[in-house]
Amino acid sequence: MIISMHKYDLDTPCLVLDVDVLEGNIMRMQTMARAAQKELRPHAKTHKCSAIARRQIGAGAVGVCAAKISEAEGLVAGGVTGVLITGPIATPRKIERLMSLLKKDPTLMVVIDDQENAVKLNDSLRQRGLSLDVLVDIDVGLKRSGVAPEKAMELAGVISGCPSLRLRGIQAYAGQVQHIKSFDERRKKSLACMERAAEVFGQVTEAGFPCDVFTGGGTGTHDIDLSVPWLTDLQVGSYVVMDAEYMAIGCARNPDKFDVFTPSLTLLSSVVSANQNSFVTVDAGLKTLYRDGAHPVVLKPCEKGFTYEWFGDEYGMIRYPEGTDHPRPGNVIELVVSHCDPTINLFDQFYVISKDRVIDVWPIDLRGKSQ
Ligand SMILES: Cc1ncc(COP(=O)(O)O)c(C=O)c1O
Repeated sequence: MIISMHKYDLDTPCLVLDVDVLEGNIMRMQTMARAAQKELRPHAKTHKCSAIARRQIGAGAVGVCAAKISEAEGLVAGGVTGVLITGPIATPRKIERLMSLLKKDPTLMVVIDDQENAVKLNDSLRQRGLSLDVLVDIDVGLKRSGVAPEKAMELAGVISGCPSLRLRGIQAYAGQVQHIKSFDERRKKSLACMERAAEVFGQVTEAGFPCDVFTGGGTGTHDIDLSVPWLTDLQVGSYVVMDAEYMAIGCARNPDKFDVFTPSLTLLSSVVSANQNSFVTVDAGLKTLYRDGAHPVVLKPCEKGFTYEWFGDEYGMIRYPEGTDHPRPGNVIELVVSHCDPTINLFDQFYVISKDRVIDVWPIDLRGKSQ
């Protein structure tokens, strides 16, 4: 019986989610946004779990974001409405999937960064007698997707000439600034990007396009984004679970640690071999911990000086300081994961804990949904 088990009795490797810390992060972000009269539209690509999305909406979010059509399908199947797909839907098969999903949930919203794509979406919608809310995706320097700010008005014009598309506003995501270590530098660079997007929003609305959404931002800039004029909502993702990569940047009150949000997610692993002098081998390797961003941080044992190093597909290396007790086979090592999104995508479920005891198991129902 898993329920009521102590977290350190769970089999490893596994992901545990402290629901009290999770709720604290959800409420902290929601309260900050509300105080600045902004909304939240949290990104579900981080947690890939419709149970968490429902909690974010329950706390006051206007909707959630999905990166891909398959994530949106999973969210709708999980009872979540008000989903914004934050990447263009570009291929014929995915446009078909979007049409089918729109029949189930007319509240879906999609970004567009290309005139031809707007026309194709419009044609597919017209043939089926459907209509779709859309945002112009503005490239504010990430160069991944989005139209150049100076071309946004032209695209808005094309969209408004498409009778089956309803232009609702713009999206601007400055992903390239989210992990800048220095808060002041991050603030300067982020404001420059987002103020450019705000200018576009001003032009689009002055031209008479009926826009009520200006969405963007992320965890690293959440408190900076709150001062961006006309920004209506924040697409924050990682704040809800946190990771080592985000913990390592500075924040307004602490130049060395991003301690505004607390990691609610940890990975439990076990020592499997302890025959070396300065390290032991644990059962969490590349197949359970995504190698990106930063090194995982060791929380247990809690003495200083324990570090995780990559050790291949199946295993990790835990180095321990001289003079400390040598961990033994079977001992549990608890880690903050390197990068939350791709690590969560490697697991089927979260063991949900409160006061270190398992109270529930939540499926990571969007796991593997990358189409
Ligand atoms: C379009 C978009 N919006 C928001 C986010 C959320 O970012 P974060 O996890 O830094 O809060 C991401 C993450 O990559 C993203 O791609």
